[in-house]
Amino acid sequence: MKLKFQLSVAALALGAVFAGSAMADTKAAMMAMGRDATPAEVKAWDIDVRPDFKGLPKGSGSVSRGEAVWEAQCASCHGAFGESNEVFTPIIGGTTQADIKNGRVAALVEGAAATAPQKTTFMKVASLSTLWDYINRAMPWTAPKSLSTDDVYAVTAYLLNLAEVVPADHVLSDQNIAQAQARMPNRNGMVFYEPMWKVNGKGDVKNVACMKNCETEVKISSFLPDYAKDAQGNTAEQNRVIGPVRGLNTDKAGTTPAK
Ligand code: HEC
Repeated sequence: MKLKFQLSVAALALGAVFAGSAMADTKAAMMAMGRDATPAEVKAWDIDVRPDFKGLPKGSGSVSRGEAVWEAQCASCHGAFGESNEVFTPIIGGTTQADIKNGRVAALVEGAAATAPQKTTFMKVASLSTLWDYINRAMPWTAPKSLSTDDVYAVTAYLLNLAEVVPADHVLSDQNIAQAQARMPNRNGMVFYEPMWKVNGKGDVKNVACMKNCETEVKISSFLPDYAKDAQGNTAEQNRVIGPVRGLNTDKAGTTPAK
């Protein structure tokens, strides 16, 4: 029934000629479609955890419980100690006690001279909320959102222990997570980059939605248009060279060979 109804609305919408009343009918029919999301449905989607831990659900989990979760549900892809390079770049490694003290991962600053073979998650991530949120919404890869809240705490605690942020007997919870955040090795590593292009003094991405004569087809692809290539110089020369990862050669003249 419902499907049939939607199809007839679509047929109306596609028709080239609209009588005034047909227009009004279509609009009314459109308005009658669907229903408001229930509070429970909204709650199921509303799971983001912010850097100030707003949105973090109450709960707790120990490092040892986390180790069991990790071995059963994560290690096959990420390695027993989060060090595997096989399925994804390593989660653990490349951070030191000095980094934990300074809140800045020295290997990233040192670039090519760094001893770390490549960038790991703990070298990069500044906000523990990001790690918690990501595990909660996306892992394990094959069964996202299947972990209980307490097991997300536990497995996060295990990773924090591997990264030497918390001790082996630690129980991570909503009450003490801010203390772990204060020891994240790259917590001061966030940098602000000016937008590439400014329109009236503001970043060009602050656009308003197009309401008339808009593009009818949008092609989404990932490439740098020629005119934008050297807007910020040659990215290949600005990449922090760690391991085999290299930046794209965006030198417009094409004179600088990729490294
Ligand atoms: C079947 C393989 C698989 C399993 C099992 C798995 N992961 Fe992952 N994990 C991945 C892949 C692939 C990515 C990268 C996903 C992407 O970038 O879109 C990833 C990414 C991550 C990241 C983000 C790393 C970063 O720097 O962006 C974390 C953290 C993580 N996984 C934790 C876990 C935890 C915790 C578990 C167990 C509860 C788990 N993973 C189980 C495959 C897996």
